[in-house]
Amino acid sequence: MTIRNKHSKSSAFHCNAGSRYSALAVWILIGFLLMVYFYSHVHQNDKEDILLPSSHLVNTRELEEAEEARFYFAPPKDRRSPRAVKRKGPRKQTSIIHEFLDESSQVHAYFFPNRKTAIGPLKEGNDSMYFYPGQLWLDTDGNPIQAHGGGILYDDKTATYYWYGENKNGPTYHAYKKSAARVDIIGVSCYSSKDLWRWTNEGVVLRGEETNITHDLHKSNVLERPKVIYNDKTDQYIMWMHIDDVNYTKASVGVAISDSPTGPFTYLYSMRPHYWDSRDMTIFKDDDGKAYIIYSCRDNSELHIGPLTDDYLNVTRVMKRILVGRHREAPALFKHQGIYYMITSGCTGWAPNRAQAHAAESIMGPWETMGNPCVGGNMVLRLTTFFSQSTFVVPIRGLPGTFIFMADRWNPAELKDSRYVWLPLTIGGLADEPLEYSFGFPYWPRVSIYWHKRWRLPEGWRTEETR
Ligand code: GAL
Repeated sequence: MTIRNKHSKSSAFHCNAGSRYSALAVWILIGFLLMVYFYSHVHQNDKEDILLPSSHLVNTRELEEAEEARFYFAPPKDRRSPRAVKRKGPRKQTSIIHEFLDESSQVHAYFFPNRKTAIGPLKEGNDSMYFYPGQLWLDTDGNPIQAHGGGILYDDKTATYYWYGENKNGPTYHAYKKSAARVDIIGVSCYSSKDLWRWTNEGVVLRGEETNITHDLHKSNVLERPKVIYNDKTDQYIMWMHIDDVNYTKASVGVAISDSPTGPFTYLYSMRPHYWDSRDMTIFKDDDGKAYIIYSCRDNSELHIGPLTDDYLNVTRVMKRILVGRHREAPALFKHQGIYYMITSGCTGWAPNRAQAHAAESIMGPWETMGNPCVGGNMVLRLTTFFSQSTFVVPIRGLPGTFIFMADRWNPAELKDSRYVWLPLTIGGLADEPLEYSFGFPYWPRVSIYWHKRWRLPEGWRTEETR
């Protein structure tokens, strides 16, 4: 009895001391995490204060204002006869995305305004410089820009921006009854600009192949999401792109090279990177000159990332699987103050969906998901990435911390009429969703893409050499 009592007492004592120690340990851990958290954020702000001249802070604030958008669409009319309605019952409710994709709907007309509202240097005069997301955008000849799924290279040698993208200026059709809408390969277009607003057509710099049916670029195949980077060692411009067959089963990447940013590019070959299927993809050149490929893999269920060889013409053996099981595509990668960021979309073909922002301390991962970067507009716009899909993020020289988010508003009813949604993207403030590995503390600064019906880069953003 006594022994039992003693025993129970002492075990009670152990238990109390144990819980006191563990409570202490928890408090120490919380204190430590709070210190790490505040330290990193205070220093983050320090760095921003040093890097951004105050005039830029004032000017870029305008871009960061959350602008509301309102639209109201009457429910689509049921055009069936009263007898048909009686027989089949009331029509099923359609979603706004269905309406958006349906050429005959008012929603579609709203998001694809006609040529009357087109913008461009010939119409607006050279001093407008306003971006109008979703409106037709004309080049310096007055023609709609054809550079879809594109990306931008800033070329130091010519102090010029080059925009490369899919030329989809042909008829849209379905190869089979249930297959995705498509346009035959025409090639990769290139446009040049000093100010990111007036774009001069430099022509098709990589051409599709008309006759040789065995060629990767035969018009019956698929060429998507071309991106170009410059190799300082070989003095060559290297293009990587998604190469596929009509059914998207080839799932490969293609490589082309040129001595000049305006081509012509010579097509080299296609491959399955690291022997894996690869669909939506991008490449990224880091500050140290190392380049990487990022591609959607294993039927788009995960992304793979790996360094390219020094000449940028091949992949190396190194590869990491990231965002495994997340089903993300359309990756757009960028870097700010030593941290890597990426915007991706969900996998719903040409239909828009909700974007996600991701961050990583090392480009090879681990990558963490921070939530939806879209700010302003309204809920529908934010849940559809403003009815568009990411393709690239352009760093603005002269405005550190400010980027342009480039996205495609696809029009699968008429792919050549797909629009561009360019919006300001900034980094700062706290991420709004807790992350997996940070004990509930948001650790990365928030990535924000701000909705604007019309916006321009702040006056004086251009550096000396691009003027
Ligand atoms: C999307 C992809 C586009 C294009 C499209 C075809 O998922 O991002 O680049 O491939 O599917 O349906």
